[in-house]
Amino acid sequence: HVKDSSADTKSINKAQEPSPTSTPASSHSSSSASTPSVNSSTGLKEPGPSTKKQKRQLQYQNEARPKKLAIKEPTTEAMVKKAKDLRKHRQSLPIYSARDIIIKEVKENACVVIVGETGSGKTTQIPQYLLESGLAAHGTISVTQPRRVAAINLAKRVAEEVGTPIGQKVGYSIRFDDTSSKDSLIKYMTDGIMLRELLSDRLLLRYSVIILDEAHERTLRTDILFGMVKSIQKQRQEMIEKGRKDIQPLKIVIMSATLDAEKFSEYFYNAKIMYISGRQFPVKILNTIEPQPDYVDSALVTAFQIHQEEAPGDILIFLTGQEEIESLEKLIEEYAVDLPPSVGKLIPCPIFAAQDSATQQKIFEPAPPGTRKVILATNIAETSITIPNIRYVIDTGCHKSRGYNAKIGIESLLVEPVSKSSARQRMGRAGREAPGLCFRLYTEDSFDQLEEDAIPEIKRCNLESAILSLKATGIDNVTEFDFMDRPSKSGLLRSLEHLYALEALNDEGKLTEVGTKMAAFPVDPPYAKVLLQSEKMECTKEAIEIISLLSVDTIFSAPSSKREEANEARQKFTSLDGDHLTLLNTLRAYESVKGDRDWCRENFINSRHMRHVMDVRKQLIQFCERAGMDPKKSCGHDLEIVLKCFLAGFFQNTALLQPDGTYRSILGGLTISVHPSSSLFGKKREAIMYNELVFTTKHYIRGVSALESAWLSQAAPKYFGQRRA
Ligand code: CDP
Ligand code: MG
Repeated sequence: HVKDSSADTKSINKAQEPSPTSTPASSHSSSSASTPSVNSSTGLKEPGPSTKKQKRQLQYQNEARPKKLAIKEPTTEAMVKKAKDLRKHRQSLPIYSARDIIIKEVKENACVVIVGETGSGKTTQIPQYLLESGLAAHGTISVTQPRRVAAINLAKRVAEEVGTPIGQKVGYSIRFDDTSSKDSLIKYMTDGIMLRELLSDRLLLRYSVIILDEAHERTLRTDILFGMVKSIQKQRQEMIEKGRKDIQPLKIVIMSATLDAEKFSEYFYNAKIMYISGRQFPVKILNTIEPQPDYVDSALVTAFQIHQEEAPGDILIFLTGQEEIESLEKLIEEYAVDLPPSVGKLIPCPIFAAQDSATQQKIFEPAPPGTRKVILATNIAETSITIPNIRYVIDTGCHKSRGYNAKIGIESLLVEPVSKSSARQRMGRAGREAPGLCFRLYTEDSFDQLEEDAIPEIKRCNLESAILSLKATGIDNVTEFDFMDRPSKSGLLRSLEHLYALEALNDEGKLTEVGTKMAAFPVDPPYAKVLLQSEKMECTKEAIEIISLLSVDTIFSAPSSKREEANEARQKFTSLDGDHLTLLNTLRAYESVKGDRDWCRENFINSRHMRHVMDVRKQLIQFCERAGMDPKKSCGHDLEIVLKCFLAGFFQNTALLQPDGTYRSILGGLTISVHPSSSLFGKKREAIMYNELVFTTKHYIRGVSALESAWLSQAAPKYFGQRRA
């Protein structure tokens, strides 16, 4: 899993498939449309407007697709003007009236907790207020975000408000992309990057204020940062008291969008909590009467219903991931073509990480007159990013959530029902500028059954990279760490054992040289191990390439109407050894035509994803160079070596063929099936390894390659030795 977190992009080694029958809504299948009829859950029950089923083939004149909005690179003069124009907007935000008191509290206190409704201006304004009040005089003001897209987007916005190009006064830093410079006074960054900066700057001396934003999300990394910054603040204070003139105190600001802030306050020595009230118009909630078997389809139907029947205002749809977003985007485009000429266009605007910034900017620009935008987002739009002009929210009731079964040591990313608190946040997005409507694609009963709040990630996910970060910053006794919520003992033990098997820790639980190097790589421990191993096995080039290819959901596109053709095209690249080498073959072919887009289309390769892959590859090459490795070292045609190299990181993700023809995982003894999208689907091999486990009706594995069982003990002597003992 990539260290720099982002719930909205594919994380290396995370399962992606939706689970089948989860409440309140279940996974997307390509089955036919269901008809959501809607009732109101506010006030008396009333039969809501019943949704008309969208006809699959409407015979209307074929309209041209909406033009892409042109984005011009502004000049510096234009920037200053833009900043001036934005000043009014800044002053109109609810938080503006609290500006002076916020500055005063932060100046007078070591820790402050600020709670404010989403969109009130916390993330964009507070760093600027602190900057304006001189708090950046002795160091940068940093703002951490759980999501990459949010970090980039908010930094760009604040740079505009400040009136300087991005990367100067205001910058951002995320995995594989750092625009910040030494002169940056405000720096937006992911929580993962902050953890990595700790490796080289243990007291975070370059920062004067650390703002931990989106604290209510309780991501694993933000939770770890809570403990780290608390301890750093104390250490810096002690040094100052001992007379160190060169050390400045560290200010901590915790920001949250939900009201339950007492816990943060208690943890930070009963810090003062400030509440910023936002503006909120009433939002009417409409629940479906029946559970929806296919929420993507229901969302499609509802979006067109709103578009044809409701007043102007944009639509925001909450989905669970990039695959779903892209499939709904295509469906909307297909159906929008068939709208009658009297109805304005419906323009889908997806938000996800692997898209260029001009496309992303489109989300914030008003739809052309007479048209309507429909924003397709993951829960990034819940509290991280506020998109203007939303009047209608369609809530699928689901999101992707990390899960970890500590008993068998298997981690997965599952589509799961959101919490009540998330559902309320989603609803709130419809009422920021005017009264709105929230269409919940699940029943009122399903809502009642939702958990009140999500369980903090630290209690339910794999802790390996967190432990590695802690150890690498000198915290050896991780069980004694000052956690806000303590992870389970069994979870901690499992992760420690795995790190030991990966040779990142020694017998005493101390970080080894390998472990130190692994901590510095921007990928999860097993992938880091593959990279380090590739140096010994002389296949760094191939290891980098395959890891890059695994960093997107899939590089193949398979439109439902052309599945046969797509499968046929894919045969050309298929390797008998499985998916890793199939991916590599595809990359070679892609390079030989220099990424030609027509070629991609003909061969059903997603060129957008491929460009992202190339970008990740470039970054990984730089990381390897910095680690003193030769990224060009190649094993040539002897590709078996690459598989052995991957096994050094993924020995836990292996399974053996059983006499009855099924596969059983070596760890946990689960019966698992090869995913239909894998090139080893339906093939029987002695032993296999895989990158991710997916739960649907079965335990499916993806990213599968064949191996010889004899390789196993060589790949991880500690692990297999241990198991025999
Ligand atoms: O952090 P919080 O949710 O309190 O609000 P914010 O992210 O600081 O956003 C404040 C305002 O800035 C909202 O009205 C956003 O719509 C606006 N904004 C924008 O117009 N364009 C962006 N790229 C980011 C924020
Ligand atoms: Mg915010």
